[in-house]
Amino acid sequence: MISQDSIQQILSRIDIVEIVGSFIKLKKRGANYLGLCPFHNEKTPSFTVSPAKEIYKCFGCGRSGNSIGFLMEAEKYSYVEALRWLAAKYNVEIEETETSPEYKQQQQVADSLYIINHFAQKFFSEALMHSDEGQDIALSYLKQRGFREEIINKFQLGYNPEGRDGFTKAALAAKYNLDYLQKTGLVTVRDGNAFDNYRGRIIFPIHNQSGKVLGFGARIIKKNDKAPKYINSPENEIYVKSKLLYGSYFARQAIDKADECLLVEGYTDVVSLHQSGIENVVASGGTSLTPDQLRLIKKYTSNLTIVYDGDNAGIKAALRGLDLALEESLNVKLVLIPDGEDPDSYVNKLGAVAFRKFVDDNKKDFILFQLDIALRDAGNDSTKKSIVVNQIAETISKINKTEDFTRQQDYIKQCSEILKIEEGGLHALVNKFIREKIGKEENRVSRDQRFAEESIGTEQANAMDDDIAVLLNKDEIHEQAMIRSLLEFGLKDWSPDQKVAEYIFKEIEENQLEELIDNKELVRILRTYKTWFDEGLEPVAKNFLYHEDLQMSALVVSIMDFNYEISPNWKEHFEGHIATRDELFAEEVFSTLNYLKLRKIKRLMDENQHDLEKATLTEEQLMLVQTHQHLKQMEIELTKQLGTVIFR
Ligand code: CTP
Ligand code: MN
Repeated sequence: MISQDSIQQILSRIDIVEIVGSFIKLKKRGANYLGLCPFHNEKTPSFTVSPAKEIYKCFGCGRSGNSIGFLMEAEKYSYVEALRWLAAKYNVEIEETETSPEYKQQQQVADSLYIINHFAQKFFSEALMHSDEGQDIALSYLKQRGFREEIINKFQLGYNPEGRDGFTKAALAAKYNLDYLQKTGLVTVRDGNAFDNYRGRIIFPIHNQSGKVLGFGARIIKKNDKAPKYINSPENEIYVKSKLLYGSYFARQAIDKADECLLVEGYTDVVSLHQSGIENVVASGGTSLTPDQLRLIKKYTSNLTIVYDGDNAGIKAALRGLDLALEESLNVKLVLIPDGEDPDSYVNKLGAVAFRKFVDDNKKDFILFQLDIALRDAGNDSTKKSIVVNQIAETISKINKTEDFTRQQDYIKQCSEILKIEEGGLHALVNKFIREKIGKEENRVSRDQRFAEESIGTEQANAMDDDIAVLLNKDEIHEQAMIRSLLEFGLKDWSPDQKVAEYIFKEIEENQLEELIDNKELVRILRTYKTWFDEGLEPVAKNFLYHEDLQMSALVVSIMDFNYEISPNWKEHFEGHIATRDELFAEEVFSTLNYLKLRKIKRLMDENQHDLEKATLTEEQLMLVQTHQHLKQMEIELTKQLGTVIFR
């Protein structure tokens, strides 16, 4: 863990113009800087950086964030990685806080394994390119398959010679620890003798996102029925198969650019496609994709295209677990390579241009493909067919993100046509699965009280139909406006003996926070602000922007927009003086608060009205009518106050 002190030091040096400026060209425009957005293709710049607010916002694609968010988006760094990048840039020495002995031990092992792998990669490359055996047996084999030296070097391919212990001896002579050598899988010990594990094999190093070698895949050269074709590194502190994708280090930029990731099965497929200039490609090693691997892809793109040979059992493995991809909002397409070929052999046969065209022309939708296979399997059996209907409904129900709503509707329409069933029926079935899922979630939630609030919030949001969502969004604008005025003006004087923040908290307390603000995230910001304020810390927007809780900092960024800035040109056209937001802050605080109070009263009136319709006892009715009048009076007062502020 990086110490708080180091984090503060790093944050104090941050200059967003400088940081963003090291990725894109920025031009000064008024108080802000303007450039071409690095996150989407554009010809006229709409990417704006505000040094005063320390945030960026693109008016084209809508992305926004702070310096750390920018690094995370542009370089796909984690929060900690972004901090380390900044520390390196600003020469801040990072101080690590005391970590648990187990964690330290694990880090030490990991570091040692990286160092050994680095040594091994150099050794194997040297053996491939510069030893007689490597050149005669391995390099010639690779060249005969069409791999050129340039690509061999880029992917750092290597060769482990046939001799018993060439590598082992070199590693021990270089004083590497035998236990760690075994952990990497490069060395095996039997009957007290240590020897090479990948003898006579071509070596494919597997890199992490920053290019360090995590492990190796080793392919046999001579056909041998007794030995497996590939041996892969054993799981250890750094090689965790379920979390990596072969080639991702070399593919990341191309995936970002193409906004698509091709997934193939094998090492050679990745290297071959790369050589043909198709660089947005990674391999899974033929197993089904894990949630971690899907998330890795999702960092770069939402479009996943699986390119597999159709006759292969691998295709079934690849499809398994892909429902998970839908939950991650990934768009999955499938391209089947003709019988007897794999992407490597096929691109060599067709050439890059024709291969690319083949992929583009033969993309099948993953859900429709699945349906196709299942229907063919089911034949005329009606029981089997109803199972298919259920399965497809369940699959479709996994598309549950609000932004994918139309996609879900499209699938229901298409699938019901293919299945020759009523669209409405399939719709109902899909909804049943969605409800079941929410039910399960809620059970889980009640077990886990800590997360209860947030989770129910999202589930409800998911289940909410569009109209309500739109209505609530309008309300949310006012909630956000309130938080914005707190963040911006909280430390100003409301009255001689009261800050704006104190005034707001008093008002909110009287009206009860939860009844005033629906959005749980905004409530969280407010609470954090109050804690900081009460502790005498500075609850200014900047500290929220760099809050480790990224959801919170992202929300603060989206609240602190640029819209309120008055352009200097515009100002010149006016005679005299335009009041700025800063000068009108009291009105803003007052009116945003009153709007929320008014909303609360309207809600109470609705409830009251509802009760009144059901009430049967005269006494009860009388009381409700009185309540109504009281609320109505409050409503009139508030509206009047609001009016005087707005129309003054
Ligand atoms: N694989 C593996 N272990 C094996 C066989 C295969 O890990 N015993 C993985 C490897 O990642 C391999 C992929 O599955 O790259 C696909 O296997 P296959 O198609 O047999 O190999 P190719 O990569 O096509 O290798 P080549 O073209 O050299 O035959
Ligand atoms: Mn192959």
